[in-house]
Amino acid sequence: MKFPDNFVWGAAASSYQTEGGAQEDGKGLSIWDTMCRQPGNIWSDNTGNIACDHYHRYEEDVSLMGQIGLKAYRLSVSWPRVIPEGTGKVNTRGLEFYDRLIDSLLKNNIEPWITLFHWDYPYALYRQGGWLNRDSAEWFAEYTRVIVDTLSDRVSHWITQNEPQCFIGLGHQSGDHAPGLKLGFSDVLLAAHHSLLAHGKAVQTIRSHARSKPVIGSALAGVVKIPFSNTHEDIETARQCMFSIRARDCWNNTWFADPIVFGRYPDDGLSLFEKEIPEMKDGDMETISQPLDFYGVNIYHGETIKSSDTGSGIPVPAPEGPALTTMGWEVKPEALYWGPRFLSERYKLPLVVTENGMANCDWVHADGKVHDPERIDFHARYLREYKRVIEEGVPCRGYFLWSLMDNFEWAYGYKQRFGIIYVDYATGKRTMKDSAYWYHDVIMGNGDML
Ligand code: FCB
Repeated sequence: MKFPDNFVWGAAASSYQTEGGAQEDGKGLSIWDTMCRQPGNIWSDNTGNIACDHYHRYEEDVSLMGQIGLKAYRLSVSWPRVIPEGTGKVNTRGLEFYDRLIDSLLKNNIEPWITLFHWDYPYALYRQGGWLNRDSAEWFAEYTRVIVDTLSDRVSHWITQNEPQCFIGLGHQSGDHAPGLKLGFSDVLLAAHHSLLAHGKAVQTIRSHARSKPVIGSALAGVVKIPFSNTHEDIETARQCMFSIRARDCWNNTWFADPIVFGRYPDDGLSLFEKEIPEMKDGDMETISQPLDFYGVNIYHGETIKSSDTGSGIPVPAPEGPALTTMGWEVKPEALYWGPRFLSERYKLPLVVTENGMANCDWVHADGKVHDPERIDFHARYLREYKRVIEEGVPCRGYFLWSLMDNFEWAYGYKQRFGIIYVDYATGKRTMKDSAYWYHDVIMGNGDML
């Protein structure tokens, strides 16, 4: 058994994490620009001002993608680069950057997958309430229209928003991410509701304005539960945990995915959140639940669950001395089996892993190369699990490795390196890591060597 012939082997990155050019060519401020300006928010007070300087070095980066043999590149567009105030006047010079980038990708036979929003929200709109303002859905649709009008003659793959669980949960509840808010839970849910509305309106906008037939999906954060054993009880318990809501926070699948796919909030969330449920208007759920072409999910880890006599699942603690990445995330390859399997069974959409990867302790070795055997082992193990679920008939269309290159890892700044291309931030020099050569071989053989 094999990966399907047209399987999409890709890599992903995002605008704020790679581009730099923070003040160039008329770009407006994003909430990450302002977040990074305040000392203490980011590790070592790093900023995305220059980042990988992808804004200037994109041609070199695309040529490296070509060397790796990527079939697709998942990039995001910086909303304030294109519309500095978030709505209204379009910044042509900003838009032209994406024009050039897309052309360069296509010239190298790499299919662009565009994420419209990967967290760099326009600061000007944040000052008008950001996601707390119901108009944010219209603002997002207006911005989507600009991008679709300009790029849909060449781009057909679209992702509306990256990980609402994170930009709402980390951005508006815990305050670890921009805009750094620690709101009460009813406001968190209100912001979430508006972001869901924005998703729905963006899908409508793409469908009605795209010049080539669009393929539209999500990039939700996957909260994956792994059964402790293959017994029926453990599998059902893990499934139930994966699709239940037990805490007043955003770390679940269903509060975001159920409205998007089924057009309703899940009952357990509705009863747990009760009085904090945001005000909804008639028709909201119809707007939110636009038909999608794929369920995109970012999966990094998972939690093992054992069934118990009471019927509820018990998390199984990690063994002593577990395998951890430098993020402190446990290596759990089975997450790429159970996540896709459970999600596809519930939501019945073709699945795409829109992110998977690890941060490692990488540096340029004395021989001038970057040896990262841990990352190769990580991806090999995860991809074998992904292959297993595909062999069982779960429809999975693609895999996007996070990340193409080392980049600005949000609150961790440049401390964490996720790339298969090493970036020397002082000089901008790129070095393909061993994992990049390995991924090239995987892609060339369509995963046969796994
Ligand atoms: C995901 C984000 C991505 C990157 C990886 C490590 O949550 O979507 O930008 O930070 O984690």
